Amino acid sequence: MTDAKTEKSADPRVVIVVAVATNGVIGREGDLPWRLSTDLKRFKALTIGKPVVMGRKTWASLGRPLPGRPNIVISRNRDFAAEGAEVTSSLETALELARRHAATIGADEICIIGGGEIYRQSIGVADVLHVTEVHAEVDGDTRFPAIDSVIFEKVFEEDLPRGEKDSHAMHFVTWRRRETAE
Ligand SMILES: NC(=O)c1ccc[n+]([C@@H]2O[C@H](COP(=O)([O-])OP(=O)(O)OC[C@H]3O[C@@H](n4cnc5c(N)ncnc54)[C@H](OP(=O)(O)O)[C@@H]3O)[C@@H](O)[C@H]2O)c1
Repeated sequence: MTDAKTEKSADPRVVIVVAVATNGVIGREGDLPWRLSTDLKRFKALTIGKPVVMGRKTWASLGRPLPGRPNIVISRNRDFAAEGAEVTSSLETALELARRHAATIGADEICIIGGGEIYRQSIGVADVLHVTEVHAEVDGDTRFPAIDSVIFEKVFEEDLPRGEKDSHAMHFVTWRRRETAE
């Protein structure tokens, strides 16, 4: 039997995955302002086997589709083509497409992987935020919006020392939308 509640609980969670400097910076001149091997491994573990949704500029910075994940790129340019990815012209259609992929491959999450514009537009519909806090103040031109602790609660955190292939130390935090939050 299905009712509205069961149908809702079958929806994949919308999960934001991001690395943010102490001063809110996430990017500089179309690229990441750090080298964090530990975070790349975590990113892969969090997103593998799940649809990933990204803005056209983040797609450009990756330079190739992320393997093992349906790649969905958002662009207002209806002529834009991305080899190895599907292009949609709004966040809503990207999420709809990602839901269909999730149902097909049996994924329980859709991952929003940036950049700044897409995070800003999607934080209002995100269920979970996986945030790597990068222990540094860095120069940059792209930022992550402030996380409202009335809306999200911290459900996990872990300190990680700087590894050999990391430019900075990190702190991993998972935030979950509070039950009462809209
Ligand atoms: N630290 C992290 O975790 C992280 C993660 C990802 C990215 N980044 C960094 O973030 C930076 C990129 O972020 P960004 O904010 O400049 O760009 P972005 O969010 O990756 O992409 C912006 C583009 O997405 C499209 N777009 C945005 N909203 C749309 C909408 N509502 N409907 C249709 N298309 C829409 C537009 O593409 P068109 O111009 O083609 O119309 C827009 O130019 C880079 O420096 C990257 O390295 C950091």
